Amino acid sequence: MRSLRALVIGALLLLAPASLFAEASPLPRVIEANGKHALLVDGQPFLMLGAQTNNSSNYPAMLPEVWPVIDELHANTVEIPVAWEQIEPIEGRFDFSWVDALIPQARQHNVSLVLLWFGAFKNTSPGYAPEWVKSDTKRFTRMMTKDSKTHYVLTPLASSTLQADSRAFAALMRHIRDIDPQHTVIMVQVENETGSYGSARDFSPEANRLFAQPIPAQLARKIHKSGTWAQVYGWKADQAFNAWVTARYVDQVAAAGQAELDLPIYVNAALSDPFKEEGAQYGASGGPNWNVIDIWKAAAPHVAVEAPDIYDRDYAKYAAWLGDYRRPDNALFVPETGNDVAYARFLWLALGNGAIGWSPFGMDATGYSNFPLGAKQLDHDTIEAFARNYRLLAPIDRDWARLAFEHPTIGFAKPKDGSDQSQVMGRWKISAMYGMWSFGERDWTWIDMPPNPNKELPVGGAAVVQLGPDEFLVAGADLRLKFAVDKPAGGDNVQFLDVEEGTFENGRWAMKRRWNGDQTDYGLNLTQPVLLKVRMGTYR
Ligand code: DGJ
Repeated sequence: MRSLRALVIGALLLLAPASLFAEASPLPRVIEANGKHALLVDGQPFLMLGAQTNNSSNYPAMLPEVWPVIDELHANTVEIPVAWEQIEPIEGRFDFSWVDALIPQARQHNVSLVLLWFGAFKNTSPGYAPEWVKSDTKRFTRMMTKDSKTHYVLTPLASSTLQADSRAFAALMRHIRDIDPQHTVIMVQVENETGSYGSARDFSPEANRLFAQPIPAQLARKIHKSGTWAQVYGWKADQAFNAWVTARYVDQVAAAGQAELDLPIYVNAALSDPFKEEGAQYGASGGPNWNVIDIWKAAAPHVAVEAPDIYDRDYAKYAAWLGDYRRPDNALFVPETGNDVAYARFLWLALGNGAIGWSPFGMDATGYSNFPLGAKQLDHDTIEAFARNYRLLAPIDRDWARLAFEHPTIGFAKPKDGSDQSQVMGRWKISAMYGMWSFGERDWTWIDMPPNPNKELPVGGAAVVQLGPDEFLVAGADLRLKFAVDKPAGGDNVQFLDVEEGTFENGRWAMKRRWNGDQTDYGLNLTQPVLLKVRMGTYR
């Protein structure tokens, strides 16, 4: 009897569509509370310690050159392309062998996946669209320049392109829904660095007609202004218009995919100088650049996150871009950053700004280097600059994400001139100092102090979570942190009450040892990546 029942249940299970079980584990999603964000994976906050592969690593034959780097890096999430040309080489005939190979291997390597949909726009161009799209410029119209020449970018105004792109993306999402009930795929990027170089927008007659009209009501409501594009946006009207039509296009592709599988979707931006708005229109005009995030937010409600691709080693710019994208209505996520040593310290800055994820680009051994953006060569020392931080954080990715979601955070990274930095958390002023030995003070003259080799290197950073008024979780490397009372009432002296080095195990703090003596006498010297729980006190 029992075996018959088991047989019947077994047969039913075999017959049931995989999507029946899709609800077994909750869908990943991005949530917000009090202006802070978390990415929920399996219903719990998760910090993406990402690694993005090179562009053309999206073939099963390349994976043996991907996994060793991912494993060495201790990344918990791999961002990797799925190209339109590879899933729909012939119109209407889909081939999902790439994701079928990728997803089980990702599970074997214990990583989540972020899929990058290289559809009609890849770094603005249709390079990854199938040949039947690229070669049919009648059906899949390109933008037109001001002097009526055909531009290389597909116009986001063409409904034929939108339909074909949406259909392919929806087919991909449907397939993932069927093969990935456990949600190894946690997020999807729709298109890649949209916008247009060399022409700020489409200047076709139809585009010009739309450009002369009032801005859409949805946008007018958001920015509390009305009028034509030129009236509302002045000199940056072309960029603003292109942002709107591009974001509307992307939103509809995203919606078509989400109707099949409702994963969080984000878009990535090619950035212009954060300190000079003039000129942004000549960059990837229309993409989700820092100066048009409001337009994207109004135009693309199916896109959860606008995200910056940061390829600049300059602290001031890096910090400015993080500030631009860290908004109550936008979770901070850095899906791409350079992969040489100088970028590794910015993980701490991103975490201190509440990032839900961060990812160096080009993390595989397929031999390509995007120097001068990233490393000349991805050798073991370069990988180690990132891996040492990921090794510390990977075991506590959920603890960090939860605590950073619930509590205030700040971040530090070494600036160009190596000068000290300080930030205030509650009644405490926390200072970061770079390029110092772990012993002694800078103004000591009684002993000869040769410069620390780190002084000249672009290394050092930390992220701090304020767990309570006087309690902090500190993670970082290659810097000294000092705590002082921000506005000392006369006679306040500061002391460490408790400094514990440790980690989290099963969601609870697990102390390895207490720091004292040399380890705290000159501040907290984080030489190698370390996690500390610090309780401060004052006395008179
Ligand atoms: C940013 C793009 O999003 C990436 O796909 C890649 O092309 C890099 N630029 C350059 O390596």
